[in-house]
Amino acid sequence: MKLTIIGTGYVGLVTGTCFAEVGHHVICVDNDAEKVKLLQAGGIPIYEPGLEELVKKNVASGRLCFTASTAEGVEKSDIIFIAVPTPPQPDGSVDLSFIERVARDIAAAMNSYKIIVDKSTVPVKTGDKVAETIKRYCKARVEFDVVSNPEFLREGFAVEDLMNPDRIVVGVRSQRPVAAMKETYEPFNAPIIVTDINSAELIKHASNSFLALKISYINAISVVCEATGANVQEVATGMGMDERIGRRFLNPSLGFGGSCFPKDLSAFIKISEQCGYDFALLKEVQRINAQQMDRFVKKITDTLWVLKDKQIGVLGLAFKQNTDDVRMSPAIELCQRLLKEGARLRVHDPKAMDKAKAILPTVTYVDDMNAVAEDCDALVVATEWDEFKKLDLEKSRKAMSAPIMFDGRNLFDPQEMERLGWIYKSVGR
Ligand code: UGA
Repeated sequence: MKLTIIGTGYVGLVTGTCFAEVGHHVICVDNDAEKVKLLQAGGIPIYEPGLEELVKKNVASGRLCFTASTAEGVEKSDIIFIAVPTPPQPDGSVDLSFIERVARDIAAAMNSYKIIVDKSTVPVKTGDKVAETIKRYCKARVEFDVVSNPEFLREGFAVEDLMNPDRIVVGVRSQRPVAAMKETYEPFNAPIIVTDINSAELIKHASNSFLALKISYINAISVVCEATGANVQEVATGMGMDERIGRRFLNPSLGFGGSCFPKDLSAFIKISEQCGYDFALLKEVQRINAQQMDRFVKKITDTLWVLKDKQIGVLGLAFKQNTDDVRMSPAIELCQRLLKEGARLRVHDPKAMDKAKAILPTVTYVDDMNAVAEDCDALVVATEWDEFKKLDLEKSRKAMSAPIMFDGRNLFDPQEMERLGWIYKSVGR
């Protein structure tokens, strides 16, 4: 099929590439001409495992191309996916100006029947607004359908998630676009659920809020574990063996972050408020998340007493493993809090150091994770990178003024750490 994706961020670029990989012909559009040039030259603006090879392969096969012209993308395809950012506004509501702009651009370029598919995370009822906008700005008398098709990929696992989705959600106003949507997704062998547009839009916000709730739930349990001497890892394993609960997203942490959960929670609370419902449960999810960071910082200050002039090593800057994304990263917030207390920081992240430099200009960036601990009064694990589990614990311990580790991701075994001579403090155990 001929498909156009507007927006080459995490969602748009990965979606377009995976569509090409399964055999569709894909045009990716971005209004950032520099980015388009980079992509055309075989460069990738983000770090995402497996993506670079897949982009190269599909560009070479002629199934994937890039352009800065929305008109070209709209004219040449029958199905247009919108995958532009929907950033948060200061009051928690969603800024839909990129979606509105793209809807007008699509309308202006429509030359035949088009299916316009929203992939960006949007508040319920956005599909109606997009349809109204296109109708208003479309000069050619052509028909169109608007479809909601939320994306569920996780950064860091985007290609894997996209190629093996649990489900495909297709929200429609009429049956007309359903066959083409099913054909588009047929190669992915996933169950397709067809709903009305409002339900499809809600499925996305409801899913992300539920996952955030699951993390806050285990983080709240971690507080009770610490107070009672129980071990949150064992509690999570025991809970997770119940298939109705499941083990995934029960990993305690210094809080969730990223460009999705914090933003989507605020947006969903706001949307509910506009519907006349006070979603107090989700406000509590936010409160637990903020407290989790406070509690972790307190753990550090309680142990080190005064942070002023102390040197702290921080492992991890990205908001989670396998990504270079530092947006709303708990690791960055932690660094900012420690800097505010007067600490000096030596930091390392396998992929996110370049992106962190603009936000944290005064810290020392260390290329080798095994050199971070040098002359430090404490070492902190802030991101759950798998490779941190291979840290040279002996070398790090010997290089430190005091062998104290605060593990905000429970990467190490407490008994083993004690045996190796560390003062080891993790979450909920
Ligand atoms: C999230 C959802 O998982 C995706 O399904 C969704 O498509 C995406 O948002 C989106 O709306 O675009 P993402 O933000 O990429 O994906 O990352 P997650 O893997 O969900 O992690 C989010 C945060 O929660 C990270 O800071 C992570 O470290 C934290 N987390 C995750 C925990 O603290 N504990 C866990 O058990 C799991």
